[in-house]
Amino acid sequence: MPAVVLIGAQWGDEGKGKATDVLGSRVDYVVKFNGGNNAGHTVVVGDETYALHLLPSGILSPGCIPVIGNGVVVDLRVLFEEIDGLESRGVDTSSLLVSSAAHVIAPYARTLDNVTERFLGSRKIGTTGRGIGPAYADKINRIGIRVGDLYDDQLLQDKIEGALEQKNHLLVKVYNRRAISVDEVAEELTSYRDRLAPHVTDTALVLNQALDAGKTVLFEGGQATMLDVDHGTYPFVTSSNATAGGACTGAGVGPTRISRVVGIVKAYTTRVGEGPMPTELFDASGEHLATVGHEFGTTTGRPRRCGWYDAVIARYSARVNGLTDFVLTKLDVLTGLEKIPVCVAYEVNGVRHEDLPLDQAAFAAATPVYQEFPGWSEDISGARSFEDLPEAAQNYVRALEEISGCRMSAIGVGPGREEIIVRHDLLGEPA
Ligand code: GDP
Ligand code: IMO
Ligand code: MG
Repeated sequence: MPAVVLIGAQWGDEGKGKATDVLGSRVDYVVKFNGGNNAGHTVVVGDETYALHLLPSGILSPGCIPVIGNGVVVDLRVLFEEIDGLESRGVDTSSLLVSSAAHVIAPYARTLDNVTERFLGSRKIGTTGRGIGPAYADKINRIGIRVGDLYDDQLLQDKIEGALEQKNHLLVKVYNRRAISVDEVAEELTSYRDRLAPHVTDTALVLNQALDAGKTVLFEGGQATMLDVDHGTYPFVTSSNATAGGACTGAGVGPTRISRVVGIVKAYTTRVGEGPMPTELFDASGEHLATVGHEFGTTTGRPRRCGWYDAVIARYSARVNGLTDFVLTKLDVLTGLEKIPVCVAYEVNGVRHEDLPLDQAAFAAATPVYQEFPGWSEDISGARSFEDLPEAAQNYVRALEEISGCRMSAIGVGPGREEIIVRHDLLGEPA
């Protein structure tokens, strides 16, 4: 039975939540393995719209067990706000499992995220301000607090004291902020522990046993390849591994168990926050993508930067993730455009690059080399098979497929659960 990893192939917001939700009813577990409430997934089910941040999108499928893996950073306040919000709408969250090895986002991490961004000034990253970077920094610095620590009073007290000893120096002396007390942090963290207790477990053990028993597991990445701390556009990235390898470290399953890796890619490109984006548009076409695609952040409400499809990035994503399939989303947003340019290569200081230049300055200097494709004007939201698409849309998808390094197994034609064309079953045998 398959273990499928689903990741973002661009800079996030490709429609991972919808893709996960579409598969939700056919999988036994959906596992979030990286990131935290910096993610924002909008899932439309009939007339209902859900905005998910910390909970895996599988939570909306009855019978599917949602799992927050060890690689996630958990803001407990946000977790329970999200659980309460869903429960009040009739969504059962009781089967949620949370890794005891996941790190928590302490209140001082949120504070530090915001003051650091202000301090960076023009060099800021444009983070979501959710404390993600500081929480992962504490994990790597070995001063983080894990979910399991909440149940050992002495250990928790020691850890908070240790962390604050250093952070209060920084807050008071460098950032001119008030010191944070051990008690206020302990109070916030312990206020949730009784409610959390029934959900806490060794999720890596649960998942490996599930795979042994032939269950189907879907690993849902937050953020995306170009935001990955190792493989993205560093330093304008998030602080976790959002690429496929992150599923192994962030969920505690070995690479030999993964049978399929699906990259979600938008039919154009968007980005939130700072950092280079070679195909970014500042004209009426960019306006079309932003308006028709409703490109505003699910988490922060910030307008997303919009640009044409970038095949250099798609090829890079196919490679670093070992993709077996792409899901192409939001094809419907391109309806009505006369011509659709696609970036097929970059030019960096007069030199053509087919592959993504890793060097920060080179990528920042990359200008797109475009190939233009004819558009279509027919409404495609009702298309349910590839043949239902107008000829020009079929040609556009085939062209993307050819230059992106992997087949396009499903195509999104609208936000709804049903608005998708499936060409190859994502849970079946890989090609
Ligand atoms: P995620 O973070 O990758 O889950 O993506 P977001 O939810 O942040 O952003 C994707 C947006 O596009 C959401 O509002 C989805 O409802 C919407 N969406 C997903 N697939 C499609 C599609 O094929 N067509 C259209 N028009 N909207 C889509
Ligand atoms: P989903 O899962 C788009 C961006 C932020 C910022 C950078 C670092 O919905 O695709 P962070 O708060 O993580 O330290 O911010 O990463 N970012 C996202 N952009 N979609 C996301 O998540 C993002 N999560 C973080 O805008 O540029
Ligand atoms: Mg999103």
